[in-house]
Amino acid sequence: MIIAVDGPTASGKGTIAKALAAHYGLPHLDTGLLYRAVGRQVALNGGNPDDAGDALAACGFADALLDDPILRDEATGGLASRVSIHPAVRKSLFERQRAFATQPGGAVLDGRDIATVIAPDADAKLFVTASVDARADRRWKEMQASGGVASRESIAADLAARDERDRNRAAAPLEQAPGAVLLDTSNLNREEAIAAAILIVEAAL
Ligand code: C5P
Repeated sequence: MIIAVDGPTASGKGTIAKALAAHYGLPHLDTGLLYRAVGRQVALNGGNPDDAGDALAACGFADALLDDPILRDEATGGLASRVSIHPAVRKSLFERQRAFATQPGGAVLDGRDIATVIAPDADAKLFVTASVDARADRRWKEMQASGGVASRESIAADLAARDERDRNRAAAPLEQAPGAVLLDTSNLNREEAIAAAILIVEAAL
């Protein structure tokens, strides 16, 4: 069983994907981390994330960074979103994501293009979203809890910029795949969102 979970940042897709993986006893891959590692590696190389050559050169070295907590930063999210527009970067990360998706027994993957590119053959496809306001609130609370100082306005602006880039790029833009079920988590708490996601998967099987 392959479960594809796509959606914008702070929509709840990561939490939902992890919970589905635990519920069904499946391995889980957060594909955003792969792009974050490439973005971070470009920065470490002193390269330009908007340059396809610099971004591709970082792909081979990014694995060592996958456990680094700095990958979770919003700044690294921005770098990820910039390197992810390059088709060569997406291509270099394709095979490992596809191999993860098709491993015996199945898998849960979350990202932007799981149901559209990586696993259009997924058994269940969820497109998780939430209003910009709800998503900015979540990021702001997370940031405050970890002692950050960014304003809610700057967080909302970063979020909107990343959405804009992810939705409007030519290569694998963020979009709801045919057959994907929309789950809006704006007014749901964690448990409600997970319960709704399980119902969607059950209905798809
Ligand atoms: O999901 P996360 O916020 O960690 O993703 C970081 C960035 O990586 C996204 O803004 C997006 O540009 C890119 N990404 C992607 N395709 C994926 C996962 C993430 O382009 N499957």
